[in-house]
Amino acid sequence: MIYQDTINKIMDTARIEEVVGDFVSLKKRGTSLIGNCPFHNEKTPSFHVSVTKGIYKCFGCGKGGDAVHFIMDHEKYSYPEALKYLAQKYNIEVEEKEQSPQDVEANNARESLYVVSQYAANYFASELWTGEQGRAIGLSYFKERGFREDIIRKFELGYSPDQWDALILSAKAAGHKEEYLERTGLSVHNDKGRVYDRFRGRVMFPIHNFTGRVIGFGGRTLKTDKNVPKYVNSPESDIYHKSNVLYGLFQAKKAIREVDNCYLVEGYADVLSVHQAGVENVVASSGTSLTVEQIRLIGRFSQNVTILYDGDAAGIKASLRGLDMILEEGLNVKVVNFPDGHDPDSYMHKVGAGAFKLYIENNRKDFILYKADILLKEAGTDPIKRAGIIRDIVESIAKIPDDIKASVFIRECSRLLQVEERMLLTELNKMKSARSKKAFSQQNPPKQQFSSPPGMPDGPPENLFDDNFSPDLPELETTVDNDQLQEHEIVRLLLAFGHELVSWDNIDNMYIGSFIMQNLADVTFEDEVCKLIIQNYKEEIENGHLPVANQFIKNENRVIADLAITLSTSPYALSENWYNKHQIYVRDETVNLKATILGGLFHLKKRKVDRILLGLLQEIKTENDPVNQEILMQRYAYIKNVEREISKFLGSVILK
Ligand code: GTP
Ligand code: MN
Repeated sequence: MIYQDTINKIMDTARIEEVVGDFVSLKKRGTSLIGNCPFHNEKTPSFHVSVTKGIYKCFGCGKGGDAVHFIMDHEKYSYPEALKYLAQKYNIEVEEKEQSPQDVEANNARESLYVVSQYAANYFASELWTGEQGRAIGLSYFKERGFREDIIRKFELGYSPDQWDALILSAKAAGHKEEYLERTGLSVHNDKGRVYDRFRGRVMFPIHNFTGRVIGFGGRTLKTDKNVPKYVNSPESDIYHKSNVLYGLFQAKKAIREVDNCYLVEGYADVLSVHQAGVENVVASSGTSLTVEQIRLIGRFSQNVTILYDGDAAGIKASLRGLDMILEEGLNVKVVNFPDGHDPDSYMHKVGAGAFKLYIENNRKDFILYKADILLKEAGTDPIKRAGIIRDIVESIAKIPDDIKASVFIRECSRLLQVEERMLLTELNKMKSARSKKAFSQQNPPKQQFSSPPGMPDGPPENLFDDNFSPDLPELETTVDNDQLQEHEIVRLLLAFGHELVSWDNIDNMYIGSFIMQNLADVTFEDEVCKLIIQNYKEEIENGHLPVANQFIKNENRVIADLAITLSTSPYALSENWYNKHQIYVRDETVNLKATILGGLFHLKKRKVDRILLGLLQEIKTENDPVNQEILMQRYAYIKNVEREISKFLGSVILK
């Protein structure tokens, strides 16, 4: 148990933008920061961080909360684990009540796998720096290859002694269980049940997840014997999933965000060399071919990827298709080719850090143009081959989700391929429509009902009226069959502007909070959570206290907190709708606060009135007695008048 004092200190110190910023590349937009949501896959950012409120919220998947929630959700940490993570980040000493032996026992297995992996990394490093064999063989190998000591330490490189069970013995003596050594793949057993170290007599490259925990290893042999595999890698385990990991990302992520570009290389050695040259935004997919998960991982930090290739032409051609995947994820891809069969590592050592940096600056080519170039050279003048290339290139362009970007490439390729732009566009549209048809039929098998997520307008609205009855139909703004949007808007306005003092027409120096509440006297809220918040607000005002947004945002009732977070981070959901519909573009709602507040109030009222009208219409339609029908019609006409007044008012107030 962590003491409350410590928890408070952590909460006070942690800055949401820094905590989230370690995982998500954030850009300033208005008063908040936005980025691509790390909790779901998206190409346009809908993940908002409010620095002043200390919270984050994704409008795509709905996840939201404070710094601790973020770490819990993102790292899959428990509450105390997340607190400890933050404490470590901010150098806060965690004061903890004694743990019982059972608690220690119950420390979950995943944690043990992390711990034993870190132990192994430390062990290999200490063998490298202080072991006799390690220094003589391992360290001297790294030095021979030109790696500096600071880089060797930064990447926690190590050496595994050439013995059957050096690590096992050391780990067991330090109290680690054999089970965890085996579950991380650090030890293996043969048919006869004999257990031995997986890594023996190799230089060791610990693989970190992007939060910096060791999750696996790559071990390089120092022998030149062709029968010995050059690399031995950790197997998949509960903490190590190859396809989700990029070697070097932990050490590179800060630079990737800052430079807004990620260099992608092939090998561990390449990462080290490029990093050492001062280009720290470099990662490797290490051995496996690039996966979508790895691309998304990069996409969290930057939308720009530059691939540093070995010079070998066959290899390049083989990998071209794989790169379309990066385009599909919406990232921008550039390529740098090294001359004479050099890889980044060898080229760096040949020309030195300065020239290396210049080279990659000056030789990056956009992937599509690069691909066109290579294919064209290969095809020569053969017209059939050239036609094939056009299709191939357009296929790549068709994968770019951003149409504007795609059209730029079409133009460039039209020049490069000497084909009319119009023809390329036709080809592009054909491919796109074929793809969307396919996607549509996959997503919408025949006869399946449309359904929308809660709160979103449903498919086509039901026709409530038959053909022979067509009064002046009230136009509902959405087809949602409740008033949630409008009710949410009111709560949002209360949270955002409740404490602003205003003087309008016949009101003088009044808080917007009180003003809104006064005007809600005749309105019944339907949404349960809104109802709770409004009720709460009302009671507080009656007790002479004007509630602040944080009361709801940090509310102990999680449903209230969740809605308050959503609404206080939301850009005017309802009003925007309305503005768009009426083709009024309002940049900043605070510019005309009166219109915003009255707009919100009258939208809600109009909505309530509209619903009364709709109800009446249905009654009229089902009423058989002409007298009753006449009465209903009169009532309808009366309320319709009220509705017209509200609409007129809304129109005038919003237009002002
Ligand atoms: P150096 O030869 O030391 O420069 O190694 P490198 O890290 O540059 O590796 P290389 O370019 O030969 O290969 C690229 C990556 O592929 C390596 O970093 C490894 O992740 C992986 N790899 C290479 N050889 C093997 C192997 O024999 N087995 C396995 N499992 N992976 C390998
Ligand atoms: Mn290499």
